[in-house]
Amino acid sequence: MAVSIRQVHPVFVGEVSGVDLRRKLSSDDVAAIEAGMDRCAVLVFHDQNITDEQQIAYSRNFGEIENSAGGNVTRADQKRLHPQMNDVSNLDEHQRPLARDDRRRLFNLGNQLWHSDSSFRAIPAKYSLLSARTVASKGGNTEFADMRAAYDGLDDDTRAVCEDLVCEHSLMYSRGLLGFTELTEAERVAFRPVRQRLLRTHPVTGRKSLYLASHAGAIVGWPVPEGRAFLRDLNEHATQPQFVYVHHWRQHDLVMWDNRQTMHRVRRFDESEIRDVRRTTVAGDAPTVEQVQAA
Ligand SMILES: [Fe+2]
Repeated sequence: MAVSIRQVHPVFVGEVSGVDLRRKLSSDDVAAIEAGMDRCAVLVFHDQNITDEQQIAYSRNFGEIENSAGGNVTRADQKRLHPQMNDVSNLDEHQRPLARDDRRRLFNLGNQLWHSDSSFRAIPAKYSLLSARTVASKGGNTEFADMRAAYDGLDDDTRAVCEDLVCEHSLMYSRGLLGFTELTEAERVAFRPVRQRLLRTHPVTGRKSLYLASHAGAIVGWPVPEGRAFLRDLNEHATQPQFVYVHHWRQHDLVMWDNRQTMHRVRRFDESEIRDVRRTTVAGDAPTVEQVQAA
């Protein structure tokens, strides 16, 4: 059975059928999925009851797996999953929901802000693949925004202002927005800001997109308040309903998205319930702009 992709939103997002992610894919299937990603930026696969190993193997079709280290405040002895898996669940190492005031939970609440995965890394992520093993009975949707359509929707003057801008991204900015500011010295070092272009061009389609995230806390060369005010305007523009798809999770869904072309956020749910969702991340291949070494 061949891979088939049906677009389910006016500007992006495809639903994929004809593929079993537990099995090794043919090169034709991988090429069809990658072409679907170039076009749709988000792909939804239903009824994929996969293991972590199968998820890692499938993700490797699209590039190297990014190591999850440096992207959270979970200690090594608290990890539930393999280092190549990002634990985006609400569970601790004993498979129980994290306590309300648990530092890991408070840090992870930053995922409720619009972001692009790993924009805080000098080489930011290409794809993310999120597998829903156990879903909440209500809430916990993931929303996606198409940053190509958002770019296309900008007026000419704003596009011209954005053209060569470079932003500073850090987990300290996004967590700081929620008042999560208590960090260890090692975390401050791990979370030091990196530079990212505000506009990106897709390597295959040539489409331009806004590269925004709550991790962006400054525009290089601009006064900080002016930069943040401008980024806030752009975020408001980019997340208007016509650019947004809401994914209502079903158990065994796998959703993959292109972080170079989209932003996303998770919504609230009752955290006394278990929401076990696991992410693999396909690493990008280059920085978006030259990094400046701290003195
Ligand atoms: Fe994310």
